Amino acid sequence: MKSGKCMSIQILLGLLVGILMVARVASHDYGDALSKCILFFEGQRSGKLPSTQRMTWRKDSALSDGSDVGVDLVGGYYDAGDNIKFSFPMAFSTTMLAWSILEFGHLMGSEHENALESLKWSTDYFLKATSVPGKVVAAVGNPKGDHNCWERPEDMDIPRTSYLVNTTKPGSEVSAEIAAALAASSMVFKSVDSQYSNLLLQRAFQVFQFAYQYQGSYNYSVGEGACPFYCDYDGYMDELIWGAAWLFKATNEQKYWNYVVENIHYLENSVKTESKKAVYVGGCFADFGWDGKNAGINVLVSRWVMNTSKSDPFVSYADKFFCTVLPESPTRWVTYSPGGLMFKYGAKSIVNSQHVTATSFLLLVYSQYLTMFNRNFQCGDVAVSPSRLVQLAKVQVDYLLGSNSMGMSFMVGYGQKFPQRIHHRGSTLPSIDKYPKRLKCHDGDEFFKTKDPNLNVLTGAIVGGPDISDKFEDNRSNWKQSEPTTYINAPFVGVLAYFKVYPNS
Ligand SMILES: *[C@@H]1O[C@H](CO)[C@@H](O)[C@H](O)[C@H]1NC(C)=O
Ligand SMILES: *[C@@H]1O[C@H](CO)[C@@H](O)[C@H](O)[C@H]1NC(C)=O
Ligand SMILES: *[C@@H]1O[C@H](CO)[C@@H](O)[C@H](O)[C@H]1NC(C)=O
Ligand SMILES: *[C@@H]1O[C@H](CO)[C@@H](O)[C@H](O)[C@H]1NC(C)=O
Repeated sequence: MKSGKCMSIQILLGLLVGILMVARVASHDYGDALSKCILFFEGQRSGKLPSTQRMTWRKDSALSDGSDVGVDLVGGYYDAGDNIKFSFPMAFSTTMLAWSILEFGHLMGSEHENALESLKWSTDYFLKATSVPGKVVAAVGNPKGDHNCWERPEDMDIPRTSYLVNTTKPGSEVSAEIAAALAASSMVFKSVDSQYSNLLLQRAFQVFQFAYQYQGSYNYSVGEGACPFYCDYDGYMDELIWGAAWLFKATNEQKYWNYVVENIHYLENSVKTESKKAVYVGGCFADFGWDGKNAGINVLVSRWVMNTSKSDPFVSYADKFFCTVLPESPTRWVTYSPGGLMFKYGAKSIVNSQHVTATSFLLLVYSQYLTMFNRNFQCGDVAVSPSRLVQLAKVQVDYLLGSNSMGMSFMVGYGQKFPQRIHHRGSTLPSIDKYPKRLKCHDGDEFFKTKDPNLNVLTGAIVGGPDISDKFEDNRSNWKQSEPTTYINAPFVGVLAYFKVYPNS
């Protein structure tokens, strides 16, 4: 009897400790993660750094960019662990930063200012990259040359070739994505600096017109400046529609909405070729990332479509997209690791966390829109509520921040345990402060090969993350898992702002 009672008290105590531990693990400092998520962009800066630069191991770099074409192209962001300025993914990251601020900026508190700065670093660059009418800069820096070297951005000696699209060698995807970025950003800056906002909007008109009037893929126009690193695999119609949707959101001009409505059917045929399943999933509603904008288009426009009596095809496509994601959905295509991290079907898990952050963002945005219009939806027999979408996003966020079997955060500098050997040139090599002498192309190789941790902490960088069996190799050779990119972080800025204010949702 006595010992039995004792046992049950022990069990109770054990349970209590267990619950407390789960609670401790499950609750994250989303505010801290948000600050770091934004700070990361300072580590990716190209050009002349301002006196306000907080990530001080980085210095000025690529100060002659554009000199080969007689245009000032100093500034912008390096896209990932390399030192190339690829406009296509940079523009997508910019659109997502702007969308993050539009939806969740009011929840950011003191980080709002930093978020605006991270956005302006991009928009200032895109104003330069589109300053000559009829031309758009698609990339700066020779990608093959860069990938052959392991160099700090501060002492690159590879050709800083400028790759431009123009009226005879067009690039509708890169141009229309820049138009989307400029239009979205014009809305962000409207209440902050109306003159700057107007400049961005005027440029968005011009660049969209160029993308629309001279149609073609930059794949063919700039060759090595696009492929194989950021080939446009799924065509440019999605970017044209996405650009038009953002211009409609920014201006309410009917002609942009007409463009979206009249062209959305084109996406039904723009499909992936990896397998029959991917063909079914891709196309009209499933993809969202630097290449495919389809799911983003449907979620973005669903806010005003839900506000009318008509809902097709956009809202039904958006519903269908989430039905490919939700674990309980009979039409699910996304797979989940045993620990609960989502893996996009057909993505072959390449830089998987980009899909996790972008999808989490769409989950939260759609949840908000459903709530505004008091709407639920069905995946077959399964009813889906707005709060269910938030719940799934939270599981994904918490996993990336450390609630996983490895007990590891995939954001550098967040939590007790995080990746130490990220695939990132600047982070790996000694800083200019510590080692001012120039390190040439292959001088960095020893720093790449060493088992030692990286020398500079690229705070806030979210890496590609673990594989589908929840295994992570903290090794800079394994770039799929250990490389950060701007388009992983950009949507996460909005997601973290949400959970900073609603940590218990
Ligand atoms: C467009 O760029 C190509 C080089 O990529 C050049 O040969 C052509 O003359 C340019 N066209 C115009 C109209 O500037
Ligand atoms: C761009 O190039 C890739 C790789 O060669 C190809 O798969 C894709 O279809 C091309 N995109 C367009 C729009 O032609
Ligand atoms: C719905 O449309 C009305 C009229 O244009 C507008 O005032 C309202 O803000 C819209 N609602 C939402 C949630 O966007
Ligand atoms: C990283 O992976 C490479 C290639 O698989 C291997 O040679 C190297 O020893 C690994 N480094 C560490 C730190 O595990």
